[in-house]
Amino acid sequence: MPGIRGPSEYSQEPPRDPCLKVNAKEPFNAEPPRSALVSSYVTPVHLFYKRNHGPIPIVDHIENYSVAVTGLIDNPKMLFIKDIRSLPKYNVTATLQCAGNRRTAMSKVRNVRGVGWDVSAIGNAVWGGAKLADVLELLGIPKLTGFTTLGGSHVEFVSVDRCKEENGGPYKASIPLSQATNPDADVLLAYEMNGEVLTCHHHQRILNRDHGFPLRVVVPGVIGARSVKWLDSINLLAEECQEITKKEKVKEEKIKWNCIQAWIKEITKKEKVKEEKIKWNCIQAWIKVDSAANVQPENVESVWNLRGVLNTSWHRVLLRLGHSNL
Ligand code: MTE
Repeated sequence: MPGIRGPSEYSQEPPRDPCLKVNAKEPFNAEPPRSALVSSYVTPVHLFYKRNHGPIPIVDHIENYSVAVTGLIDNPKMLFIKDIRSLPKYNVTATLQCAGNRRTAMSKVRNVRGVGWDVSAIGNAVWGGAKLADVLELLGIPKLTGFTTLGGSHVEFVSVDRCKEENGGPYKASIPLSQATNPDADVLLAYEMNGEVLTCHHHQRILNRDHGFPLRVVVPGVIGARSVKWLDSINLLAEECQEITKKEKVKEEKIKWNCIQAWIKEITKKEKVKEEKIKWNCIQAWIKVDSAANVQPENVESVWNLRGVLNTSWHRVLLRLGHSNL
């Protein structure tokens, strides 16, 4: 692979913050303490949850790093970091959430398969990079296109990591071309996270390898699984890539891409939560509707599934005076 490779073992993993709760060591899956999600609007990179399916890829020569754009496209092309950086840069604040977030609550109903996430496989970051719509336009696919002339209607992102679940093959996922070419969908090829230039100095470079250095996809508004890290190629396909078949859309909120702090402020600002006194100085609170009056399911039992994904049931939290136990 040009400039980037996926190792087959874990001897060259980046250092990680000791505050993280490790849910699986190899591949490395970890989430921050709950307090990290509310202590700042933007989740710091070192505390952002890390969801990996294999060893973290290594960049040997950044100048050789390129992304191949192939498949059902008239003019296949190799894109270098400098090509992507030459496009207008956008900063998009968006929440990323693993579909398995709050899986441990689901496993209390009945056993489920997958990494045991508590409630913090979610984070809010400012992603900086080029819009995929601009990248595709550079390759001759106009904005707001549903089909290429060769019949491509899905955009597949392929990585270089060697994933256990894919029998050593790479991680991949796809989105519809109509979403990829819509500038308002804010799909990014991101080279920055929280203003940290991924290719900048040594220290940052090491820390950021977990999150897709040197280039990752960010697909706001859907589960994190689509946001492929360590991008190696982009393929135009006639059908959706089979690895991830569900379209678990997250509802849009006032702040465009569901930035989590907004929800937490809602608890105090607007009475969108039901409160119940359980001790004289404690309340139990939960959010159950969004601003469009969509109601979440009340109990985890009703959303139980074998993979333990999409636990959208009411998340009850205990609030103490002067503290929040989110
Ligand atoms: N991309 C690659 N190449 N490999 C992965 O294991 N995990 C996906 C997605 N992109 C993954 C990936 C999943 S399931 C999630 S939830 C997000 O990355 C997590 O991104 P993060 O580790 O930066 O928080």
